[in-house]
Amino acid sequence: MDLPTRIEQLKTGALPAIKAVKNKTQLEEWENKLLSRKSGQLTELMKDLKDLSEAARKEAGKLANEVKFQIETALAGKRRELEQSEWSAMIERERVDITQPALPPKERGHFHPNTIIQRELEDLFTSMGFMVLDGPELESDYYNFTALNIPATHPARDMQDTFYIKGHPNWVMRTHTSPVQVRAMQKFGAPLRAIVPGKCYRNEATDPRHEHTFYQLEGLVIDQGITFAQMKGVFQAVADHLYGAGTKIRLMPKYYPFVEPGARGELTCFLCAGKGCRVCNHTGWLEVMPGGMVHPNVLKEGGIDPQQYQGFAFGFGLTRLAMLKYGIEDIRLLESGKLKFLEQF
Ligand code: DAH
Repeated sequence: MDLPTRIEQLKTGALPAIKAVKNKTQLEEWENKLLSRKSGQLTELMKDLKDLSEAARKEAGKLANEVKFQIETALAGKRRELEQSEWSAMIERERVDITQPALPPKERGHFHPNTIIQRELEDLFTSMGFMVLDGPELESDYYNFTALNIPATHPARDMQDTFYIKGHPNWVMRTHTSPVQVRAMQKFGAPLRAIVPGKCYRNEATDPRHEHTFYQLEGLVIDQGITFAQMKGVFQAVADHLYGAGTKIRLMPKYYPFVEPGARGELTCFLCAGKGCRVCNHTGWLEVMPGGMVHPNVLKEGGIDPQQYQGFAFGFGLTRLAMLKYGIEDIRLLESGKLKFLEQF
């Protein structure tokens, strides 16, 4: 058989065989078998070209090159085809049915009782035009005491022993949210309406009623012509909001260094409806709302002229409000992280 016929024969065998290839391994086998430089079938045939006459060699050489090109094209086409189907198979495997309904969550989280009360009060106060402010928990001695009319030697400091920071004699873990009063006045000036919910710390021997970490909610209103009666109105709104309309409140005189006059706001015990029970110490009243008219010295520290502006301030025990609302008997449970306790809310 002459060389051109053998080349043609090779082609007629090879092209359908390449077409029938099913995977990349087979494809490589065919590529090697036909075109490998050492022993490929076409390579071998081309070696025989040198034995032909010049004219015949030209002719057969041209044919060989054409066949080589056709085989290469067929191999490349097959490779593309295999890659394409691998790709679609992968897409098929990874397909996500976005119309399928989601699995329902096994458990739903919920707020801590302190947070529930905090949110309820934030809602009430923002509806009355108050800003909600924040302040540092690691506070300076100045903002925590001095600026609030409690100078260094004042006995009122003894009532609020706290945690001091080693090497920083002027820093304390704030004992109340009141320091943010002066910070707010300095930042925003008058008039001003703000509440400050937040964490406070005291050096306490803990028991069911005392905890080293607890929450308060401070309030501050400053404007011209502010009166004690307006404070009472706000206290009444809080009582109605938290414990139902018609909850009675009363104000009794009490000393706080940063207000003058100062008061402890009390509300009728909602557990016994004022009859007297264990929770209200058999008085029928709960003391939960301390407040008063902002002391002129505090206004001055805040950069506000006491001749021009007045204001009232209050500091609710948020933790205490939560304990009362939910009948929690031991304050230590609130910071305990005990799930058995927390899951009840
Ligand atoms: N800061 C006080 C405390 O922790 C509570 C308080 C009383 C805040 C009277 C006030 C206030 O703003 O006017 O015991």
